Amino acid sequence: MSVTPAERKPIVSAGDFDLSDYDFWARPMPEREHAFRLLRELERPVFYQEMENPLVPRGLGYHALVKHADILEASRTPEVFCSGDGGATNILDMPAEFAEYFGSMINMDDPRHARLRRIVSRAFTPKMIKQFEADVDAAAVRIVDDLIAKGPGCDFVTEVAAKLPLKIICDMMGIPEKDYRAVFDRSNIILGGFDPEYVGLDMNTVAERLLTAGMELQQLVQDLAAHRTEHPTTDLTSSLVNANIDGEKLTMQELGSFFILLVVAGNETTRNAISHGLHLFTEHPDQRELLLQDLDGRLPGAVEEIVRLASPVNYMRRKVTRDHEMNGHLYREGEKVVFYYWAANRDESVFTDPHRFDITRSPNPHIGFGGPGPHFCLGAHLARREITVMFRELLRRVPRIEGGAPERLHSSFINGIKRMECAF
Ligand code: HEM
Repeated sequence: MSVTPAERKPIVSAGDFDLSDYDFWARPMPEREHAFRLLRELERPVFYQEMENPLVPRGLGYHALVKHADILEASRTPEVFCSGDGGATNILDMPAEFAEYFGSMINMDDPRHARLRRIVSRAFTPKMIKQFEADVDAAAVRIVDDLIAKGPGCDFVTEVAAKLPLKIICDMMGIPEKDYRAVFDRSNIILGGFDPEYVGLDMNTVAERLLTAGMELQQLVQDLAAHRTEHPTTDLTSSLVNANIDGEKLTMQELGSFFILLVVAGNETTRNAISHGLHLFTEHPDQRELLLQDLDGRLPGAVEEIVRLASPVNYMRRKVTRDHEMNGHLYREGEKVVFYYWAANRDESVFTDPHRFDITRSPNPHIGFGGPGPHFCLGAHLARREITVMFRELLRRVPRIEGGAPERLHSSFINGIKRMECAF
């Protein structure tokens, strides 16, 4: 049951809230910031019980890692902190029937993970992304043309932030424009958390809606793949279903779950980074002015700072494969750890004045794209490029664009903005 803001207990100490409580994630941002500051001040990570649910047996519970050093160290030790065995993208173990659609490499360990990553990573090298640069540039120009034609007062999320990543992923895979909307709606459901607008709180309904969305996306890409097997083009689907020079290719099931991973990982994250970016420039006009003085020179730093503060992926989790001591704390076999990137990206021991938006911050060792290790974000180059191009185009043509109050997604996993009116 959700509680009203007036019924919420004020947060004074780390014992006043529970990260497994659905309602915690509806608290205003300053309260969330305060709560995670309290957790970072503690000597040890807090251990939480998992949420009761009708789908899978409740696990042993999880250690909430909120310090930069802990997440770095655990990310570098995948043999102890594994991504398989229930999955990395959710705290509860993934029910077996979900694996067909959501069991892609992000939820696997080596050697299976390494094989898939090797096959798909050829499409994501900086060299390959370079080939896409012209497409990203052209798409951003068109999006801003359409925004200007529509005029102020429209929703920045659907009219700008969501359009670029959606188009780029669909183009890469060869998905035709008529199917963009279907992809957009399904990815909203998959990453909608418990937001009542997308999925709601009833776990059985959530499971049913997630499975339907997964099945529909898989069907879409498998139909395309069947065609590309006979009639290959230069798109990614063709190169994934037809053997490469080493004789490697994806099976139809692997292709389906990889596509689902790509659309959710590549769309929602970049979309939210762009929306948070506009919100940050609206709240910090001095940083906008600084950027406008040297757009090309300062954009790379601004993009890193946006990803740090936005941390669109709030967490990933791991399961402990054997008893292990790390940074003076014992982790027992079968327990889970959750990497709260959003919190670590505000770690006072690493970032001076961490809540300040500073586009000149250097160094900026944020872990918004994950920690060092086998699962570091495959799309980081592409995401950086998309965010850079989008802001370059916006700030050149509508330099005073501002966002209204963001309507936030109710989710513990994605730091999302659902809607935000814009003015220019
Ligand atoms: C601002 C945008 C983005 C953010 C914040 C982000 C964040 C992340 C994070 C935190 C991980 C680590 C997962 C882990 O360690 O368990 C990850 C992995 C991944 N990301 Fe991204 N991502 C972004 C954009 C993209 C894009 C554009 C794509 C693809 C087009 C993408 C595809 C992936 C894939 C496939 C993985 C799994 C890699 C593996 O398991 O080996 N991401 N991302």
